[in-house]
Amino acid sequence: MPEKRWFWATLTLSCITLVSAVFAAWEVVENRFFRYANYVTLHYLYITRGIASSLLLAFWAAWFVLRQRRKSEEELRRSRERYRGLLEVFPGAVILYDSSRRVLEWNASAQRMYGYGKDEVCGSSLPVIPQAKRGELGDFIRRVECGEPILDVETMRQPKDGEAFEVQLSLLPFRESAGPLLFLEVTSDIRERVRWRQRMLEIEKLTSMGKMAAGTAHHLNSPLAALLIRVQMMRQRIKEDALAADAARLEEGLNFCSHFVRRLLEFTRTASMQKAPQDVASVVESVTDFFLPALRSKGVALSVDVSRGRGRMVLADRNLLESLLLTLLSNALDAVLPGGEIRVFCRQISAGRIGFVVKDNGCGISAACRERLFEPFFTTKEPGKGTGLGLAMAKNVVLEHGGAIELESQAGEGTTVYVDFPLAAVQPVSLKVEL
Ligand SMILES: Nc1ncnc2c1ncn2[C@@H]1O[C@H](COP(=O)(O)OP(=O)(O)O)[C@@H](O)[C@H]1O
Ligand SMILES: [Mg+2]
Repeated sequence: MPEKRWFWATLTLSCITLVSAVFAAWEVVENRFFRYANYVTLHYLYITRGIASSLLLAFWAAWFVLRQRRKSEEELRRSRERYRGLLEVFPGAVILYDSSRRVLEWNASAQRMYGYGKDEVCGSSLPVIPQAKRGELGDFIRRVECGEPILDVETMRQPKDGEAFEVQLSLLPFRESAGPLLFLEVTSDIRERVRWRQRMLEIEKLTSMGKMAAGTAHHLNSPLAALLIRVQMMRQRIKEDALAADAARLEEGLNFCSHFVRRLLEFTRTASMQKAPQDVASVVESVTDFFLPALRSKGVALSVDVSRGRGRMVLADRNLLESLLLTLLSNALDAVLPGGEIRVFCRQISAGRIGFVVKDNGCGISAACRERLFEPFFTTKEPGKGTGLGLAMAKNVVLEHGGAIELESQAGEGTTVYVDFPLAAVQPVSLKVEL
């Protein structure tokens, strides 16, 4: 509005200036050349002056208005281009529709996200609302009509090809100067965020399960130790052979339980990395012993051969090394069917390196999955069963110890994982002889 007033003020002022200038010039001319002219000449002169100044004013006004209009048109064009450009580069999908859900605007991100071209959807009904979400959108539209914008809610949208996916949506009122109320829908793809959230929940669940296991182990530890002592005392006092054999079996069972609980406690304890020379054979033996009950309950056979690792030391954090082997064993256990077989053996591939191999005859891994195995969160297991962190963690542990990990697999035939580390350098004993 002030711009309009400014326009009229400028036009009027410039016209007055123009008329005054014409009249002043006329006075000068009249004074100089027509001082003694007769009445008729002067009369014609005044008529000519009137016509000339009116024409001049008319031209000036027309030019002024035209120039102003061109300027406004140019500004309008530029602001339209800017608005279009903004709409196109906006990272979220922006869709404008009316209350009957007829699409009026559709930006490039909407095209990328939903797979429909602008020409395909503009003018027709909004095609990306899954059947189950139609009612929800109706509700959103009613709320926006009542003046309550919808901000950052999570819902689903249906692309042209493929399954419906999660989006974050805002629905805002949009009114052109005198037109009806329109609806501006802005959505962004949050599939990745939802995936991470689910993973975090799974990790949280596993962490609390780990803590629970640690707590349970802690609680069981003391009564088990007390039971063990009592059984040992009983056994010393029992004279009867049959009873003594029973007590021995009881002691053996309790020993196993107490050992198992101790291992569980050690495993769940998190400590900072402490590298020390570790005997590869003993690491393999203790982990496979610990794992044996899980294998037995599924009816899986385990063969262990640590002969090549005996006395071979690697500089490593024992906890990490054990977790690594445990991860590989639990993957193998998941892969084999009851009655399957897992083999673990040590091997020395060169003079300076020692390692172990975990081989199973389970389901194997398809070529497509093989490339992504070491990616964190890559899993083919159903939610709650796999976190996809095992092999990623295993690779980290191996790299932290200067080792290497390789995996060979054929779908339907089985998988073999090779891990090896540099042998710990034996420190030469230096003798200082003081003279
Ligand atoms: N021994 C194996 N046999 C078959 N598949 C395996 C084996 N080890 C790993 N995998 C595949 O690699 C994926 C990633 O393993 P991992 O990182 O340990 O995560 P998770 O076990 O939690 O799924 C598994 O989901 C599985 O598909
Ligand atoms: Mg795993």
